[in-house]
Amino acid sequence: MIAKEIVEEVLARTDLAALIGGYVSLKRTGSNQTGSCPFHSERTPSFTVFSASNSFYCFGCGAGGDAITFVRKIENLEYEDAVEFLARRAGIRIQRAPETFGGKRYDRTRLFEMNRDAARFFHSALYQNTPGAHAALAYLMEKRGLSRAVITHFGLGYSPAEYDVFFNHMKGKGYTEDELIAGFLCGRSERGGLYSSFRNRVMFPIIDLSGNIIAFGGRVMDDSQPKYKNSSDTPVFKKSKNLFALNFARTACAEQLILCEGYMDVIAMHAAGFTNAVATLGTALTEDQARMMTRYTKKVIISYDMDDAGRKAADRAVKMFGDVGLEVKLLRLNGAKDPDEFIKKFGAEKFRSLLEESRTKFEYYFESILSKHDITVPQEKIKAINAMCELISGFYSSAERDVYIAEVAKRTDVSQESIRQDVGRMIAKKKSAYKQQETQKIHQSAAGFADKVNADFVKNPAAARAEEAVLGLMLLQIGHRKRAFTAEINLREDDFFTEFGKKVYSYLQAHVEDEDATELLNESFSADEVGRITHMKIARMQLTDNGDDVFLESVRCLREAIAAARERSDGVTLSSLAALIDRRKNDE
Ligand code: GTP
Ligand code: MN
Repeated sequence: MIAKEIVEEVLARTDLAALIGGYVSLKRTGSNQTGSCPFHSERTPSFTVFSASNSFYCFGCGAGGDAITFVRKIENLEYEDAVEFLARRAGIRIQRAPETFGGKRYDRTRLFEMNRDAARFFHSALYQNTPGAHAALAYLMEKRGLSRAVITHFGLGYSPAEYDVFFNHMKGKGYTEDELIAGFLCGRSERGGLYSSFRNRVMFPIIDLSGNIIAFGGRVMDDSQPKYKNSSDTPVFKKSKNLFALNFARTACAEQLILCEGYMDVIAMHAAGFTNAVATLGTALTEDQARMMTRYTKKVIISYDMDDAGRKAADRAVKMFGDVGLEVKLLRLNGAKDPDEFIKKFGAEKFRSLLEESRTKFEYYFESILSKHDITVPQEKIKAINAMCELISGFYSSAERDVYIAEVAKRTDVSQESIRQDVGRMIAKKKSAYKQQETQKIHQSAAGFADKVNADFVKNPAAARAEEAVLGLMLLQIGHRKRAFTAEINLREDDFFTEFGKKVYSYLQAHVEDEDATELLNESFSADEVGRITHMKIARMQLTDNGDDVFLESVRCLREAIAAARERSDGVTLSSLAALIDRRKNDE
């Protein structure tokens, strides 16, 4: 844990509006600033930075908290990494406590050093005078066509075949067996001996956005299996939250990023001048990765392999990018299985023109529909037209729909009029389904269903809301916090109904003497939980009377609600639930 004084210092030296202003364009509205929320897609800004309380809150998605919460969410960082991120920004040095992994503690700085030493070892191993090194260098340069400059730029290397040279070298540098294993550089055999994880493989270091080497991929040089071996998650590496070569691409990609499948695709593209290429690390694209990309670009070109697996992965990626609001285009590589092979066969110029003709999402789906149905057969043609109308009905702009309706009419030789009618029918159907869905969503959220942060809310909304009122007041004023624990009020964990409410209560009890009780929230709560806690406070801030009488009354309401709940010892029946939902709806 980072010392409280340091967290305070970091927060005090961070101008929240300036920090957030680096990611979101903010407009002043009275004493606060508002903008479009970076955590969900919205048309009207509901994201607010409150200067008085040094906090932010989005009334659309419920994200909220302080500078640390913001950095946790936007940079995908764990609590301590987020504090470190802000400290570096403010010019404060932090001594980090060791990281726990598999029940043991590891020093992150040492693990980064260890990976760097390993990468240096692998890289220089390429240039040794041994048969293995010769073969590895020949593989990279002759077989894969990489220049020395490219090998150096990516820090590629070779991990020798012998089981012990590597770890003997690393032990000589002072790294312990535990550290080597935790960093996935070594494993332990059943008989208890150490072995190097990557043997007789060419090595690809994976570098994060701060320039730390966080992991490795290793490829065999023949047809043996597995072709690639990648580090699994370690104390300093999460596969699902990193992209290969984003450290290089992020400075090159204002306009667009190219997403491909493999290390070699990325390297071939960078070598050919397309330095905006990145790849996932041997897994399907994750939402974290897609969100990360939104920070560097508005548009992604997917350039996956031209096989079934690649197409399936592309379908998923298209959807994922749509969800995070990135524009997507797709490349069609004619005559090659992947970008690496394409560039080798046809050259960089051809690849550049391919990028220019990359297909829109519509064209991509359109073609995949046509490839599934033989439109010379009437039945199949009808199915194809139906699928296309379905696709077009999902477009928001009517101009866009018109363009595609004309295209479908031309390709299928059916009149534009009938296609337009079909599309219209589907839009009407979608609208009513959407309305139903929205109504259902409103009902659910009114009742507290789908409440990820506080799952108990729904079991007794009256008590849960009374809880939030009490906690909000305690968060707002140290006076209320202190009063809660006097003999007069004697608030106890038992007075709370939800697990979440109890947890917030215990936190406040532990921080009763802190002038600003929210400074260490991020240490104990997830970023989403901090958002909810921020809401409790802000909801109270917007009310005019937060005095002692209001606090006493809130505590009384809470106890009443809890007592009522205890009386209904049979728990919540469906009919009482329905009544609660109705009551809640009437309240709102
Ligand atoms: P080559 O051009 O043959 O070097 O490979 P590629 O870059 O075309 O890779 P491919 O399309 O076969 O796979 C894409 C990515 O999936 C690779 O870069 C690896 O990250 C990952 N991958 C491929 N094969 C394996 C495997 O056997 N095991 C693991 N864990 N990952 C793999
Ligand atoms: Mn390949």
